[in-house]
Amino acid sequence: MKAVTYTKYGGPNVLKLTQAIQPTPKDNEVLVKIHATSVTTGDQKARSLDLPRGFGLIGRLVFGVFGPRRKILGTEYAGRIVAVGQSVTRFKIGDDIFAYPGASFGGYAEYATIAENEAIALMPAALSYKEAAGLSFGPATALNFLRDKADIQYGDKVLIIGASGGVGTAAVQIAKYFGAHVSGVCSTGNMDLVRSIGADSVIDYTREDFSWQEDAYDIILDTTGTLSYKSAQKALRKEGRFVMVSGDLPQLLSMMFATKTDGQKGIAGYAPEKAEDLKFIAELVEAGQFSPVIDRCYSLDQIQQAHAYVDTGRKKGNVVISLDDAI
Ligand SMILES: NC(=O)c1ccc[n+]([C@@H]2O[C@H](COP(=O)([O-])OP(=O)(O)OC[C@H]3O[C@@H](n4cnc5c(N)ncnc54)[C@H](OP(=O)(O)O)[C@@H]3O)[C@@H](O)[C@H]2O)c1
Repeated sequence: MKAVTYTKYGGPNVLKLTQAIQPTPKDNEVLVKIHATSVTTGDQKARSLDLPRGFGLIGRLVFGVFGPRRKILGTEYAGRIVAVGQSVTRFKIGDDIFAYPGASFGGYAEYATIAENEAIALMPAALSYKEAAGLSFGPATALNFLRDKADIQYGDKVLIIGASGGVGTAAVQIAKYFGAHVSGVCSTGNMDLVRSIGADSVIDYTREDFSWQEDAYDIILDTTGTLSYKSAQKALRKEGRFVMVSGDLPQLLSMMFATKTDGQKGIAGYAPEKAEDLKFIAELVEAGQFSPVIDRCYSLDQIQQAHAYVDTGRKKGNVVISLDDAI
């Protein structure tokens, strides 16, 4: 089968379109013909090992000490089940699914196997494979941090920093679904996009300093690592939660050891890959309450260009790789 593989960490040019052995499903696995995948910031970090300050060693332990342990990247994908193992009961041949293997990767190939009890769910009928390819990484991260870690409540005032990105565009929509009043922070060119996905107000960080506001938010979710916990504390209300989706080790330590007042909380960590979260997101799509934002679409042989674009740090929502387009 065709696959994009890499054998050393580095720039986009370490990714090579090549031939790989098609996997065979075990008894509890399904075989998926992948129609679309994406370039997430997870793929980008596993490729480059360009990690936030202080996380280099952990990154090597996770992705491979002397070189990548998993040769085929692709944290999320959408496709059709073409074979099932003997004991599979939840899925059948012909099902259109989307899957979130996360750090197990595997999406940059024509076929992948995944166990039926891992993060896999039926695709919402209204979506194309390209749209469904961007339905896992950002939305599942936003859902986990907002609902499970920050305990978002109806009527909360929520600030999303990085509102135009993969996690941010999902977080705006999910916070709106939970009945929050949402303010999105992004650059000038992305203000219309952030408004269009439901933000009640949009702050252009190139013109306005949003960190001066005092006592303004119940939740601040930062996907950019640009707000210090100290600044967040001022902007948070009593019992407010600062959610650091992305940040370096010094920021994390300063949050952990900061004096907490007024019941405020600092939250960080990892958002796990769960089938029930994918199902929840699919139901939001079916109900017309969530729509994945697609920025650009590339073919598999343009993988280096796609990664180079994501390396700019300026993508809007998702960058999709279609395996149906000419290779
Ligand atoms: N903890 C976890 O489990 C977890 C899970 C998923 C992702 N993450 C991390 O979360 C981060 C965001 O991921 P993502 O996929 O959403 O990234 P992304 O799609 O690249 O979006 C990042 C956004 O940040 C904005 N930005 C860039 N520089 C900025 C600045 N100086 N000030 C304010 N905004 C700025 C950009 O918007 P503008 O162009 O409008 O500035 C961009 O849309 C990554 O570091 C990723 O590794 C963590």
